[in-house]
This record gives sequence, structure tokens and C-alpha cells, in this order.
Amino acid sequence: MSIHDLRKTYDAGPRKPGIEALKGVSLDVAEGDFFALLGPNGAGKSTLIGIVSSLVNLSSGSVRIFGTDITRDRDAAMRLMGLVPQEINFNTFEQPLDILVNYAGFYGVPREEAIVRAEEELRRAQLWDKARMMSRTLSGGMKRRLMIARAMMTRPRLLILDEPTAGVDIEIRRGMWQTLREINAAGTTIILTTHYLEEAEHLCRNLAIIDRGTIVASGPMKALLARLDVEGFVLDIDGTLPATLPEIPGITVCARDDHTLDIDMPRAMDLNQVFAALDAAGIRVRSMRTKSNRLEELFVSMVTAGPPAAAAPEARA
Ligand SMILES: Nc1ncnc2c1ncn2[C@@H]1O[C@H](COP(=O)(O)OP(=O)(O)O)[C@@H](O)[C@H]1O
Ligand SMILES: [Mg+2]
Repeated sequence: MSIHDLRKTYDAGPRKPGIEALKGVSLDVAEGDFFALLGPNGAGKSTLIGIVSSLVNLSSGSVRIFGTDITRDRDAAMRLMGLVPQEINFNTFEQPLDILVNYAGFYGVPREEAIVRAEEELRRAQLWDKARMMSRTLSGGMKRRLMIARAMMTRPRLLILDEPTAGVDIEIRRGMWQTLREINAAGTTIILTTHYLEEAEHLCRNLAIIDRGTIVASGPMKALLARLDVEGFVLDIDGTLPATLPEIPGITVCARDDHTLDIDMPRAMDLNQVFAALDAAGIRVRSMRTKSNRLEELFVSMVTAGPPAAAAPEARA
């Protein structure tokens, strides 16, 4: 999937400025990837998912799914993907088997084939024994799994999930992670949104972090985690810096200007060796401050904000 300079402004009503939910988002997700879009509430995750799945109109920019433009070729793009929305949206007075078979029928899968697939998907979701129950009676975790099973009925090349585990307890969440890993291992590209760093960490190879409509970081999960382990400082120096700066193993030292040093060091490392090396080079530190790290600040704000209230006003689409 390829998103280019995507913008979305929601109309806020007469004489009010629009709400800029996406401010120029670009993303590339390779086929076969397991990709997380991580961000706090209100960041724009559901808006992005809504646009990719053609439920929300984009304001500008473009989205291609395996080369198919969602605006120019909406139906073809839709056939390539399965969507698991944030809110339970099946008729809870129907039985799981019927929900799956009817959904596949809507997408043109012949009934006999749909019944075969439904059994496969219900077994994978560990819901086969519930196939003929009223789905209203399923637990929250089972309802979520049923939505994943339904999305898989069309054999999508891309599975998109909007906060699939928000509000479910850790045991159920782990079970769902396992199911998603299996689906991905069988070749389906997965994109999910989450506000749990832990979830992204466990599942995804690549991720993007979104905050207030802007991608603030993206890349392989491992590389982003490594960035979190680095601490940056800015040092104000008495007098003028020498032409050659001391070399300290494992630490990046560079001059910002004649009397300011920029230092990046692993969090676990001792500051004393930095001061010792600077002292030996005749550099006297007058003051020092921590460099702000946008990525880390975002993580911290997300972690301390905790999970959203159960009834967060997000039931739009
Ligand atoms: N239908 C809508 N009308 C107006 N504003 C909306 C609508 N949907 C979302 N927003 C606003 O857009 C921003 C992003 O929301 P959303 O995409 O739901 O974020 P997330 O899914 O990351 O929590 C928020 O400020 C939200 O209030
Ligand atoms: Mg959302």
C-alpha cells in the first residue's frame, strides 16, 4: 500500500474552521508486511483507515493498494482488502456462520464456497463450536475474532484492523496476536492501528507513529526501539571549542557552534566518562540540558495517558 501526501479536513459546521485530521501523510507498506500505525487517541488513525477502506472521502493526496488507486478504481481496490473496524458492526441477532456466508455472498463468493471458507475461518478463530449461536451471546473477544474471520472470507491480500484489541484483556489480546501472526505468515499483508506500544512491539516488523495528523517517526520496529535507548544532551561550553573534539567510544559528540556541544549516548552509559573526556580535552561545561526527543515524548504521553475511556466518541466512519 502506498499513501502519498494524504490530507483530510473534516467540516466542523458553518463559520467554524475545519478539523485537520491528516496533515500530509505519506506511507509505504510492502506486500507481506505486518505494519502498525501507532498513535494516541485523536491522532488520525481511524481517519486514515477510513480513507484507505473508502468509508471516508479524502481531501487531497492519493492511496494505492497494490497499485490500484482507491479513488479512480474504488471497487477493485475494495476487493483487495478486508477491514476490521474499531466498533463491532455485525448484526448481533445473526449467527456467526450466517454472518460470514452472507458477507462473502455480498462480495460475489458462491454460497457453497462460502460455506467451506466459513468453516475454515471459524475454526481458525476458535469459534467453530459457536457457529450456530446467536452472536449477541459471544464474549467481547469472540466478537472481535468473528470480525477478523469475516474480513478473511474474501481472501484479501491486505487485512486492515482498526484497534483490534482496544479494551480487551491481555489474555484475549495475546490470542488475537497469535491469530494475526498466522494470517500474516500465510501471506496476507496486515496493517493495524493501535495505541499500545507493546502491541506494535510484539507484532509488527515496521511501523509509523502518528500524532495530531502527522507521521512523527517511521521505519523498522527494531530501529525505532533502538532510538529510544539513546539520550541526547546539549552542553554550553565556557570559551571556544577546540578544533578537534575528544572521541569517546559509543558516544556521538559534535559541535553545534563554537561554544555548544551536541551529545548522543546510550541511556545505560555513565555521564562521568563524558565529563572526564571533556575535562582532559580542556573543555569546561557551563551548563547542560536534555535534548527533547519527539519520539520518546510521544511514547511517554501515550503510556501515561493509558487506554481510552470505554465510551470514547469514536464511532464514526
Ligand atoms: N466525522 C468526523 N467529524 C469531525 N471530526 C472528526 C470526525 N472523525 C474524526 N474527527 C476528528 O479527527 C481527529 C482524528 O480522529 P481519529 O481519526 O478518530 O483519530 P484516532 O483514530 O487516532 O483516535 C480528531 O480530532 C477527531 O475529533
Ligand atoms: Mg480510532
